[in-house]
Amino acid sequence: MAAMRAITIPQPGGPEVLTWAEVPDPEPAEGEVLIEVAATAVNRADLLQRQGFYDPPPGSSRYPGLECAGRIAALGAGVAGWAVGDEVCALLTGGGYAERVAVPVGQLLPVPKGLSTTEAAALPEVACTVWSNVFMVAHLRPGETVLVHGGASGIGTMAIQLAKAVGARVAVTAGSAQKLARCAELGADLGIDYREEDFTAAVREFTGGAGADVILDIMGAKYLQRNVDALAVNGRLVIIGLQGGAKAELDLNTLLRKRAAIAATNLRGRPVAEKAAIVAAVREHVWPLVESGVVRPVVDRVLPVEEAAAAHRSVERSEHVGKVVLRLR
Ligand SMILES: NC(=O)c1ccc[n+]([C@@H]2O[C@H](COP(=O)([O-])OP(=O)(O)OC[C@H]3O[C@@H](n4cnc5c(N)ncnc54)[C@H](OP(=O)(O)O)[C@@H]3O)[C@@H](O)[C@H]2O)c1
Repeated sequence: MAAMRAITIPQPGGPEVLTWAEVPDPEPAEGEVLIEVAATAVNRADLLQRQGFYDPPPGSSRYPGLECAGRIAALGAGVAGWAVGDEVCALLTGGGYAERVAVPVGQLLPVPKGLSTTEAAALPEVACTVWSNVFMVAHLRPGETVLVHGGASGIGTMAIQLAKAVGARVAVTAGSAQKLARCAELGADLGIDYREEDFTAAVREFTGGAGADVILDIMGAKYLQRNVDALAVNGRLVIIGLQGGAKAELDLNTLLRKRAAIAATNLRGRPVAEKAAIVAAVREHVWPLVESGVVRPVVDRVLPVEEAAAAHRSVERSEHVGKVVLRLR
């Protein structure tokens, strides 16, 4: 059997368990392509998977890695519109930390013109997550105000840029003055140091008492009531992360009086067809902004894939702004 190398997780644990090992080569099934991976990127979810708290959905690769960029090495049956050798990036359900990965054709995107594969590898997960939540779920409109928690995260740096590109006002939270400065460079209009300030009061003041029209939340339980308090009438809170826990109590009266909505979503577990619809929307709406330079990948550092453990340590300590990329070749 042909072999490739991948980062494996022999047992759950700290970054040291990540092992660059020889594994069987994947085969593209019908409707899939095989990508020769040039670069992948670290997502917070990879840390949870490594710790044993976020198993890959059934049928998907066991190796970590929710996105990659590279070249098409082979086409599965029934694939049209792509050719061997095409430079692509892709939204994955797993398996990006590997020399090759098979992916449904609907999850492919061309490498945006003018970008390297290293830069392109930093885009699919954040572009798809932000576009699907802030625009397809919360319908952020020009002139509205969005509060982005963790503005300096991979997700946050994309959310700031996309929200500004459509003409929204952007408030962000972050845990240091340096990170808030980077958010301001990306276009954030208001930076809130969550260690020192009450974000609810800051957002109310920023909006003349009205509150945020949309909140993109990654903290879950810890911020639930404060987020609802910070929402405007007809506001939309979208929860995509549970870094502050999953169980909370909420005064529904606040939600009801504001006629506000709460949604919570997960990208990885969605069916292939839903992912394809999101990827198609990203290609239509986000890719032109990337190719014109309005939206840029924010790459904090690039490490060889064999140093995935060091990359995980760095993300765990939250030393980065934007994305940490792993290079394969
Ligand atoms: N549901 C989905 O489909 C989906 C998809 C992708 C990502 N996500 C989630 O989105 C989040 C960001 O992902 P990522 O890969 O971009 O992670 P990341 O780059 O590691 O960012 C994590 C961020 O959390 C921030 N943070 C920590 N404590 C905070 C607090 N009390 N208030 C505000 N921010 C705080 C950190 O900011 P400081 O360093 O400034 O403290 C850091 O920027 C994660 O929770 C991830 O699970 C969800």
